[in-house]
Parts: sequence; structure tokens; C-alpha cells
Amino acid sequence: MRLLTRISDVQRALDKEREAGRRVGFVPTMGFLHEGHASLMRRARAENDVVFVSIFVNPLQFGANEDLAAYPRDLDSDLSLCETERVDVIFHPNVDEMYPDPNPFRVTVGEIGSKLCGRARPGHFDGVATVVAKLFNIAGPCRAYFGRKDAQQLVIIERLARALNFPVTVVGCDIVREPDGLAMSSRNIYLNGEERRAAVVLKRALDEAAAAIGSRERDARRIGNLMGSRISSEPLAKLDYAAVVDAETLEDLDRLDRPALLAVAAWVGKARLIDNTTVTPEGASSEGSS
Ligand code: PAF
Repeated sequence: MRLLTRISDVQRALDKEREAGRRVGFVPTMGFLHEGHASLMRRARAENDVVFVSIFVNPLQFGANEDLAAYPRDLDSDLSLCETERVDVIFHPNVDEMYPDPNPFRVTVGEIGSKLCGRARPGHFDGVATVVAKLFNIAGPCRAYFGRKDAQQLVIIERLARALNFPVTVVGCDIVREPDGLAMSSRNIYLNGEERRAAVVLKRALDEAAAAIGSRERDARRIGNLMGSRISSEPLAKLDYAAVVDAETLEDLDRLDRPALLAVAAWVGKARLIDNTTVTPEGASSEGSS
């Protein structure tokens, strides 16, 4: 396993692998790795010859009042997880290596970036798209693996790859959950015991909505309200949104007449948690697996 900090070293190392006919699987991360990341690495391992992981807490995707300084970091533990998952190359740059210009050039994602999480986090998805565009250029031709927990991020990155013609195949991977259903996230570390128990309300809200859809509820507003009131019934949770949107465009739906994303976000203590599931008009619920 090679730990590299310079962009040019990574480009050289991965070009050499491709010249030798090896396929590269890329897992971009912000570190503080958990089982969700490990599952992305395992998929990358199974589908490629070389596994490349980036670990970089990207300042551009944090708002002024967000948790950039407090964002959890533990490089030793990240390296040992990567070792266990037989990662070949790790890229762990510092901020100057990624953004030598104090006023960096940015990718703007447009309207889709102001829906759902973008309402509470203006500029967040421009920051994500900017770093992912840079990482795609650094990685070169590859398959890149992203979790579906960040459903809006995944939709935007798929668009980014298509719109800017990156030679990258974006692969969405299933959400990995704790035994009680809480979606794994580096930010779960912010939860104390009581908050951790309360946090499962996001998944419960999604399950109840899926059950209502299974019983033929098709009115998007009623489904959204059902999820919202479930989350609001938990005293330790503060609802941000509960939405029923088109799974591809993220536009609000009136009726569930096409594949939809049920998406929720709530504050539990210091943690802003998100979760989602996709449903079909036939009522089938799935977290997807392409
Ligand atoms: O999902 C994440 O961890 C980050 O948003 C990403 C894609 C690595 C970009 O910083």
C-alpha cells in the first residue's frame, strides 16, 4: 500500500498501472473511515485490479458555520482499514496541494445544488463538484464508487461526469446500516448515547413511508408529511426536510407516478443526519445496487 501526498505522484502511479493493462477502482473519501467506506473498497476491489482511495477533508464543501474544524479525523485508523481492505494507493494531500490558489476556481452545479440538502447548505454541492472534478482528473480513467446515503451528491456527481466528459464510470453503492437501521456516517460520532438511540427515527420514517406506499398511498405530500411527523415526534430530532422527489431530477413530486427518492434530513444533537430510499410507482422499495 502506497501513501502519496502529491498530485503528480498519484497521476504517475495510476498511469503506470493503466499502461500495464490494470483497471483502477477509485473510492473518494473524507476519511474517518467506517464499514460504509470498507464496503465501497470491497466493491472496487472485486471489480478492478487496483484500488485507489483519496482521504481529504475538502474545505470547499463546508459552510462558514459548519463543522470543518471539528470534522473527525484519524489517519492511523484510516490507514489500517485501507490495509485490511487491500487498498493499493492512498492519496492524502494537504489543502495547499489541492488548492494552491486561495480563491480557487470552482465548478458550479446550478439549480440541482439548491434542492434538498442544498437549501440548508448553500454552496455545498459546488464544493463537492469542484473537489470531485479535481479528483477525477487526478485519478484518470477509472470506476469511482459512491454511497447512496448521499443520494443528492450521487445524482450531481453522475451529472458532473457526463456533463464534463470525465473518463470515469460512477458507481452508486447500497447504504450500509448499523443493526438498528441507522445509516453509517462519519458524523454519527457526534451522537451521545441518547441521541444515538433517537437517530434511528430517520430510518423509521422512511420505513413507515415505504409501508404506506406498499398500502397504495401515492400522494407525495401525504407521504412527506408522514415522514416529517414521525421525525418531529422524536424530541431529540429537529427536522430539516422530508421530501418525495423524482429520483433523477430531484424535482418535488405531487404523485408517486415514477421512480422517487424519499429523502430525510434532521439534526440530532450536533449531527446533521440524512437518509433516503428509492421507491417505484409499483410500491417496491429499494436502496439500489447499480
Ligand atoms: O462523500 C464524501 O465523503 C465527500 O463528499 C467526497 C465525495 C469525498 C468529496 O469530498
